[in-house]
Amino acid sequence: MHDIQQRLEAKRALARLGGGEKRIAAQHAKGKLTARERLELLFDEGTFEEWDMFVEHRCVDFGMQDNKIPGDGVVTGYGMINGRLAFSFSQDFTVFGGALSESHAEKICKVMDQAMKVGAPVIGLNDSGGARIQEGVASLGGYADVFQKNVLASGVIPQISMIMGPCAGGAVYSPAMTDFIFMVKDSSYMFVTGPEVVKTVTHEEVTAEELGGAISHTSKSGVADLAFDNDVEAILMLRRFFNYLPLNNREKAPTRPSGDPGNRLDHSLDTLVPENANKPYDMKELLLKVVDDGDFFELQPDYAKNIITGFARMEGQSVGIVANQPLVLAGCLDIKSSIKAARFVRFCDAFNIPVLTFVDVPGFMPGTAQEYGGIIKHGAKLLYAYAECTVPKVTVITRKAYGGAYDVMSSKHLRGDVNFAWPNAEIAVMGAKGAVEIIFREDKGDPEKLAAKEAEYKARFANPFVAGARGFIDDVIQPHETRKRICRSLAMLKDKKLENPWRKHGNIPL
Ligand code: HXC
Repeated sequence: MHDIQQRLEAKRALARLGGGEKRIAAQHAKGKLTARERLELLFDEGTFEEWDMFVEHRCVDFGMQDNKIPGDGVVTGYGMINGRLAFSFSQDFTVFGGALSESHAEKICKVMDQAMKVGAPVIGLNDSGGARIQEGVASLGGYADVFQKNVLASGVIPQISMIMGPCAGGAVYSPAMTDFIFMVKDSSYMFVTGPEVVKTVTHEEVTAEELGGAISHTSKSGVADLAFDNDVEAILMLRRFFNYLPLNNREKAPTRPSGDPGNRLDHSLDTLVPENANKPYDMKELLLKVVDDGDFFELQPDYAKNIITGFARMEGQSVGIVANQPLVLAGCLDIKSSIKAARFVRFCDAFNIPVLTFVDVPGFMPGTAQEYGGIIKHGAKLLYAYAECTVPKVTVITRKAYGGAYDVMSSKHLRGDVNFAWPNAEIAVMGAKGAVEIIFREDKGDPEKLAAKEAEYKARFANPFVAGARGFIDDVIQPHETRKRICRSLAMLKDKKLENPWRKHGNIPL
């Protein structure tokens, strides 16, 4: 008995050592934590239960039969994050560069299967050189098995990817199918083909960081949601982020006690919107003043900045926020912002998180770049997402809501539950100037007449009452009471039930 216990301890020690002291030191020298150190930080102290510590690869080529490390380059298991269950796999770069073997993939699939059975999120900590080259197609099969599970888990349990090292080749497609991708600056990168291949094929000279680093993916491609300075910050923020999400699609959005009163008024909001309709203001100021404790967890803050997305709480309940940002491109909807917001709305809808929408939108962005880029199809994504969304939807129009963008931004017509407008809101087909230039084209040479017509159009349409008269707006509210009115609406909507007709799946314009 004593012998077997010693053998067990020896095996465990070997597994914990991963690729050995030298490689652990190399990992630390790069400013990176090891796979196990990351899990220790991610989970509440002492709660992580490791599985499959003794799994080894089955490869017999290239001398691999004599080169086995228990655990095979990935640490898997479950634990508690702020008292709530989550599953995780953490790739160990010190073992064959975290490369994915058939057995390594089986370990990932096992925790994913269990997470699906019990209804808990899966968090992937990715740090891998990709397919285990010695294993060839067995490794590719392993990747595909993970991809398949990602797809079946999509919309059932939240899936979060934290990229903490290399992530190249087809390996990027598992994170790509998860709900959120976070990256660590300077030590992580994602690309389909690396700089060498890029140079050969397109003759572009680019570094790995420029091609697929955290800054590139959070500001240029929009592939990643957030970039963090180092492993510790990344994991602590992940723990904070986790608190906003339900564990699965059958749970309601989580709530936690809040000391911020639901009926809190903020009179500074009455002067937030400038009198001149062409002057911008910072929509984030409004968000911070309306949500609980000024605490807003923004996603993709450096990508498509003309729309803001993120999580917050109202009277303790998680909500998803989408808001036009008049500071950037006047808050226009374009290709990138439509896709960014559509994906966010669909996540909220899949996981029962109410959607709050703040609208100040002059319309869709005109121009050949947008039309050739397919704004029709991409703008339709946001329209589709809002229209299919059945969670509570509360909308506040702070200023402009023009044209098709008015319809799209969670309007009454797309089953908005409660739609408010501030008194200075302009809900119209377009701005007064543009409108008279079209209707009174023959008066082009008469600026005085045009100005009079513009004033007339403005007086008639640039207000919330025309929409209010039709019931498209439920109420015109004072800016200072915005929080109170939203909180009441959300409380009223707590047990909302709405179902879309049965279908295999819709056909969102991809
Ligand atoms: C097996 C690998 C490996 C891999 C790295 N290693 N990648 N072993 N299969 N894919 C091993 C190295 O041999 C080395 O072993 C150790 O991991 C650390 O690697 P280094 O190169 O020393 O580290 P570093 O300089 O930091 O470079 C990391 C790296 C580089 C950029 C990831 O290792 C690299 O380019 N690896 C190959 C990447 C690749 O081409 N992967 C296949 C992509 S195709 P020792 O024993 O020396 O410590 C793919 C297809 C998936 O993934 C398709 C899915 C559909």
